Amino acid sequence: MTALDAVSIITAKRDGGELSDAQIDWVVDGFTNAAVADEQMAALAMAIVWRGMTRRETTRWTNAMIASGRRMDFTDLPRPTVDKHSTGGVGDKITLPLAPLVAACGAAVPQLSGRGLGHTGGTLDKLESIPGWRADVPVTRMREILADPGIGAVVCAAGADLAPADKRLYALRDVTGTVESIPLIASSIMSKKIAEGTAALVLDVKVGSGAFLKTLDGARELATAMVELGTDAGLRTVALLTAMDTPLGRTAGNALEVAESVEVLAGGGPADVVELTLTLAREMVAQAGLDVDPADVLADGRAMDHWRAMVEAQGGDPDGPLPRAKHTEIMRADADGVLTRLDAMAVGIAAWRLGAGRARQGDPVQFGAGIEIHAKPGDPVQAGHPLLTLHTDTPEAFPAALAALADSVTIGNPLHSPPAPLVLDRIAP
Ligand code: URA
Repeated sequence: MTALDAVSIITAKRDGGELSDAQIDWVVDGFTNAAVADEQMAALAMAIVWRGMTRRETTRWTNAMIASGRRMDFTDLPRPTVDKHSTGGVGDKITLPLAPLVAACGAAVPQLSGRGLGHTGGTLDKLESIPGWRADVPVTRMREILADPGIGAVVCAAGADLAPADKRLYALRDVTGTVESIPLIASSIMSKKIAEGTAALVLDVKVGSGAFLKTLDGARELATAMVELGTDAGLRTVALLTAMDTPLGRTAGNALEVAESVEVLAGGGPADVVELTLTLAREMVAQAGLDVDPADVLADGRAMDHWRAMVEAQGGDPDGPLPRAKHTEIMRADADGVLTRLDAMAVGIAAWRLGAGRARQGDPVQFGAGIEIHAKPGDPVQAGHPLLTLHTDTPEAFPAALAALADSVTIGNPLHSPPAPLVLDRIAP
């Protein structure tokens, strides 16, 4: 066998070739062990952005990412494991009501989550706004929580040993313009989910102005690639494509979204958040092979009991006061009519500028910062009435946030804007 080297692998992909299993294993292993330099891996990532990868290459690449670290195993738990992954959207707090709801239905939900970067918030940032709540849970404790029939769900930070090659590669892609590749995104997300040890997975692939993928075709391609990777790895995987042109619910920002999630668990909350929570819960419960209607479990308070237990298990006080920002500013409607558009991306950027998100990994976030939404598309509005309330501890952020919102709403004729469906498609193996 001829010796492998990074340059010939980069040039093979650059020229449109298909990489062999041995080449993929060698380059990912070399990158993990620093034998392949960052600039070589970045060049290979750029070649992959342009030339793509076949299904075989993508599966092998994903397996190599998994093999760079530890693979968790929850097969000995007394309950079926199932997880959800969202590709990220504005106001997407669904994990918060969903994880305890599905746990209350009888599944174990091991959810390894991340912190936010840019305009979409991170689930861990939201939960960290709860007094005392901690994201770091040792694997032995994770296992105890998952096995406990009164809890059953854990949302925590992934350990450094979970797909470490992906962690380094994602950081490299972020600064080399090489994030936008379906095989690289799919393998990045799925390597972490497969390594996490869940037996089943429901993917929520967001589509629209506030999402990573703006078109239905792009989202369908990513969802199909991820469902194939999951299926090839023996993970029961299904994907929903869901709309992200307008923010989910009526809040964007960490503590604001926790409060809204608790409203959902208490039987209230915005209709779109309830609908998406129940739709994803039904998919997860079906993937886990359970015969329970999540709507009953939400309605009778069992999901709330599991939420409280889940928060307490990670040191949080479910009755503790949530942080509130020190300053608010109201954005008002400038005409009478019906709100026909509220742009998710603009709201996400404004919430980020107010302090709810971070520009660089490791930056702090303001837990109380964000945006409360008083009118959603389809709602009648009157000139002068509040549309949005902006929250921040740093009032000097208001002008930049309001600038992001300058073209964020349209008030018009409702006949031209039938409400868009939330679930746009379903991709199964
Ligand atoms: N999220 C990930 O984890 N990886 C990507 O490549 C893109 C989004």
